[in-house]
Amino acid sequence: MTLKDHIRPVPDFPKPGILFYDISTLLAHAAAWKEAVRQLHAAVAPLKPDVLVGIESRGFLVAAPLALELGVGFVMVRKKGKLPGDTIRHSYALEYGEDTIEIQDGAVQPGQRVVVLDDLLATGGTMAAAVELIRKVGGTVAGSAYLIELSFLKGRERLAALGVPSHSLMVYD
Ligand code: PRP
Ligand code: MG
Repeated sequence: MTLKDHIRPVPDFPKPGILFYDISTLLAHAAAWKEAVRQLHAAVAPLKPDVLVGIESRGFLVAAPLALELGVGFVMVRKKGKLPGDTIRHSYALEYGEDTIEIQDGAVQPGQRVVVLDDLLATGGTMAAAVELIRKVGGTVAGSAYLIELSFLKGRERLAALGVPSHSLMVYD
């Protein structure tokens, strides 16, 4: 069995013509999920992060257990209006309209090395926005990591243009 055997492809979700790679089946299988976290640990530990950032919402599932394994803190990047106290925001363009993400003030200290986690890299728009936000608060983005990469959407190239390397466990093309 490989990790891909635990990913369920769902045709026509959330829209006709889209093939959705569902991680629910991976999360539900204790041994496979443990192996996925082990492989992420091997990829991320050499980046020597001071802190991990997870992107709402499925990025939280990946970042939280990995932070425990690495012995570093875990910080949330959330959609606007969800975090209490002072926050720093970043707005970015979507295909139609825009979106805003935020982080709590002081959650990442200037100069800290940050690795950003998400479940999946598609166009890279979500991760690029998180990178801009972390840079806004003075963090150094050492890299990004994912369970799944949809290589045909060129997210890796988009992040490389920002100087951010990508690490993924499963690539679909
Ligand atoms: C999905 C996925 C990534 C993002 C990838 O999140 O979890 O965060 O899209 O796409 P991109 O590389 O083109 O930006 P989604 O917005 O569906 O929200 P969720 O994580 O809350 O389910
Ligand atoms: Mg997401």
